[in-house]
Amino acid sequence: MNRSVRNLMLGVGGLALAGCATAGSLDQAAQTSSAPDRSAVSIAPAQPAWAARDAEMDRFLDELIGKMTLEEKVGQLTLLTSDWESTGPTMREGYKQDIAAGRVGSIFNAYTAGYTRELQKMAVEGTRLKIPLLFGYDVIHGHRTIFPISLGEAASWDMDAIEKSARVSAAEASAEGIHWTFSPMVDIARDARWGRISEGAGEDVYLGSRIARARVHGYQGDDLSAVDTVLATAKHFAAYGAAQAGRDYHTVDISERTLRDTYLPPFKAAVDEGVATFMTSFNEYDGVPASGSKFLLTDVLRDEWGFDGFVVTDYTSINEMVPHGYAKDLAQAGEQALNAGVDMDMQGAVYMENMVKSVEEGRVSQASVDRAVRRILEMKYRLGLFEDPYRYADQARQEATLYKPEFLKAARDVARKSMVLLKNEGNVLPLAASAGKIAVIGPLGNSKPDMIGSWAAGGDRQTRPVTILEGLQAREGVTVEYAKGASYEFADQGKTDGFAEALALAKSSDVVVAVMGEKWDMTGEAASRTSLDLPGNQQALLEQLVATGKPVVLVMMSGRPNSITWANENVPAILHAWYPGTQGGHAVADVLFGDYNPSGKLPVTFPLNVGQAPIHYDMKNTGRPIELGEPGAKYVSRYLNTPNDPLYRFGYGLSYTSFGYSPATLSAASMVAGGSITASATITNTGERAGEEVVQLYVRDLVGSVTRPVQELKGFEKIMLQPGESQTVSFTLHPQDLAFTRADMSHGWEPGEFQLWIAPSSGASASAPATFSLTE
Ligand code: BGC
Repeated sequence: MNRSVRNLMLGVGGLALAGCATAGSLDQAAQTSSAPDRSAVSIAPAQPAWAARDAEMDRFLDELIGKMTLEEKVGQLTLLTSDWESTGPTMREGYKQDIAAGRVGSIFNAYTAGYTRELQKMAVEGTRLKIPLLFGYDVIHGHRTIFPISLGEAASWDMDAIEKSARVSAAEASAEGIHWTFSPMVDIARDARWGRISEGAGEDVYLGSRIARARVHGYQGDDLSAVDTVLATAKHFAAYGAAQAGRDYHTVDISERTLRDTYLPPFKAAVDEGVATFMTSFNEYDGVPASGSKFLLTDVLRDEWGFDGFVVTDYTSINEMVPHGYAKDLAQAGEQALNAGVDMDMQGAVYMENMVKSVEEGRVSQASVDRAVRRILEMKYRLGLFEDPYRYADQARQEATLYKPEFLKAARDVARKSMVLLKNEGNVLPLAASAGKIAVIGPLGNSKPDMIGSWAAGGDRQTRPVTILEGLQAREGVTVEYAKGASYEFADQGKTDGFAEALALAKSSDVVVAVMGEKWDMTGEAASRTSLDLPGNQQALLEQLVATGKPVVLVMMSGRPNSITWANENVPAILHAWYPGTQGGHAVADVLFGDYNPSGKLPVTFPLNVGQAPIHYDMKNTGRPIELGEPGAKYVSRYLNTPNDPLYRFGYGLSYTSFGYSPATLSAASMVAGGSITASATITNTGERAGEEVVQLYVRDLVGSVTRPVQELKGFEKIMLQPGESQTVSFTLHPQDLAFTRADMSHGWEPGEFQLWIAPSSGASASAPATFSLTE
């Protein structure tokens, strides 16, 4: 029985088949069980070669585990940080003694071939059973060569580019002794206040699932035993992005339906792609901290999805079950975590200090400990560490690998692809080769540390990044001068110190490139905001720059959607550049001068102001949608002071050329169980430059056993068109692509009427749809 069939049966098993409609629907689900799971719509689940059982490995591990003492086993369940870096309080010092004593099986935040070799030697030569260490690290958007932040990469909608970034990251990280990255972060994020929105793939389930797969495959490749691949981690399981009011680590309180339909699919996609490990999240789900949730870690992850790898906690999150008010002390927290399905304890040393006693006193079974140990040792085995514990600690490979010219080239290319042109009135962009004198103004215009954003792993923040000023200055034939002018520090709001110098430079220039946004650490972990405005005194300077009458181009650098509503109304051109990475300055110059025609599309909705958050394109219609009322009607679902529509929609982004879309046509008026339907549209480059377009497919299920979103992304394709060229793009849908969590909590589709759009962004649902029905 293949995995998708087994999962489906587990998914529906045990449910009361109440009501004929439901029972009928379950039959339909069964009939379509060989179709791809909805979390990986239209992508066949592929089990990687590494996941196959290996009799030799099983024999080896049986023997090894048979020899281990309980203390040695608990050591394998323990992950500690080296003291190089940490993302929280360092709870445990003296990790070297712990390694030598076999009390720790894995280390994170330690890298370089030399250092990991030194630590590995302690484990292999100093301990009784010579079990090698596993080295983990947060390699999130590049290791040494830094790519755009993850949200920026998502804006490329380019799966090859995203996979390439992960591939390069794995090559560099593994050359420095790292075996395991704590990436990809696949949390759906719909609240721009939440700082960690910068770390994921944005708000959408389908796009997020595709990107999860691309990243996992990029890191792990097809062979975990290859020295240039690393274990990937799907994190943070689960629903971390749904933190109340966008405050990091805050309580999550969502329905199981929302959990399953919105937050879980990218995790399931990662499992389908063969992700080796999972990391728990800091938040609670349904009153239970994620690291103690048997529902998440066993019922869903193991029993429904058949995940075979190991689960690590997030940083000290077992310990945090005490302040959560779920465990009375650390010993109980450890027992809850292990019994729920946590294999490895990150940094809290709770297992290390309490688990032996918990087992001896019968609150945790030996079998549960053995199972967790085995999952971890399996990964060490699959990486080839038992054969050669030093195979990733190779000085010569390290020297030959880091910052390879081809990696820097890839980083520049991915950065160009990640940028989103938000506005271009009067074709201010691209700048002419003879643009004359360019004034680069703003705190982010010449700031190396900011270029690489947060979670830049082993990235060099001080010397390597190419700033936007440097990128523009590297062009022939233009004069570029810089004035910082403003500050992004919150405390500098109201100050005007640098304004005079910046305004004088602007007035003496032909064009102003204002580089504004947020400081690099204003997004990422523990970086939530209750305002989405430009911090510091940037807005005031921007207004004065525009008042000079010089053409102004705003280049935004930020890890979240900012409410740049004033800029949208008053600045002629806006390019969103995220934090574009080591080669970011060159990439911005490539786009501003038109060497690269921008093709990015927003992976998140940009609200008009913070009061609209959380906001996402696939909202529900409500019983009083605004469109049903007269203009200005009171008793409809709206705000008194702000329109419902966002500033920029999900999927939106301009190009230096333009594209025309024909109406979508369908291969049939209806689709039946076991069948499919194909939707097509012809896209034409109606402008004068070659350009790429992300063609998007949206569907609306008009009536369901539970209410359905007004539109859902179900496919996309990025195409390249020469001026005047046309291409017909087709998407084939199967019934299972329209599945959701139905009224009875089973997963499947329902017969009914559907609307469909092939469009340049999510905004197109206002236009006339194609329609089809789905029948049994
Ligand atoms: C973060 C994780 C990260 C871990 C290890 C935590 O604070 O939430 O995403 O992988 O630290 O650095």
